[in-house]
Amino acid sequence: MSPVRNALRHAAIYVIAAAATAHAFFAHAGDHAFRVNNPAYQQECGSCHVAYPPQLLSTYSWYAVMAGLDGHFGTDASLERTQRAQIVAFLALNAGERDTSAGGKPLLRITETRWFTKEHHKEIAAGTAGRDEVRSMANCAACHRDADRFDYAERSLGVPGGRTR
Ligand code: HEC
Ligand code: HEC
Repeated sequence: MSPVRNALRHAAIYVIAAAATAHAFFAHAGDHAFRVNNPAYQQECGSCHVAYPPQLLSTYSWYAVMAGLDGHFGTDASLERTQRAQIVAFLALNAGERDTSAGGKPLLRITETRWFTKEHHKEIAAGTAGRDEVRSMANCAACHRDADRFDYAERSLGVPGGRTR
């Protein structure tokens, strides 16, 4: 191999390695601040509650949520067809890898997933979700003050009534 080709080959390998590292880094940072940039999703699915991070449900679960928008947790969240198709595609593309089903059925709630209950059971006193400022664990923004920006980092956490440890 000529020196130039060899150098190019090494450069290519370097770029691939750098890309893989960057991916791993973002995947890790993604546990705290999710990367989401989809105005339609943020507008249509962030008006009644914060737009939830797509990464926290599987594709299977998102399909199920999006298939039942006319009877969405006691409200009607239906969308016009093309809008719905666009949001479904966005959610599927950004969905998480974790299995978010139970008994073979897709869970519709992040708050019912194993990951969520494990992450949230230690530091939150019983009864916190029932407080007026919280009302529901689905009200992420009650504790994660930057949830509207998909940021769930520790520094912006403020649990009404305080944490248990
Ligand atoms: C008209 C108001 C409204 C709109 C618009 C809306 N939702 Fe909801 N959504 C709700 C209500 C009410 C709940 C139940 C909240 C609770 O339990 O505290 C909910 C709950 C959810 C949950 C479960 C939260 C959890 O983990 O417990 C998901 C997921 C969800 N919505 C996704 C969406 C998506 C995706 C869209 C856009 C297509 C959307 N929502 C648009 C009202 C809405
Ligand atoms: C009653 C307060 C409260 C509510 C409501 C709440 N959380 Fe949390 N959340 C916490 C606490 C406390 C932790 C634990 C922080 C720790 O252990 O570092 C946490 C941890 C997390 C983490 C992990 C952050 C990290 O640094 O590893 C994510 C992601 C998260 N919550 C997402 C959500 C989502 C999404 C919702 C809504 C569906 C939600 N939370 C609702 C209090 C809350």
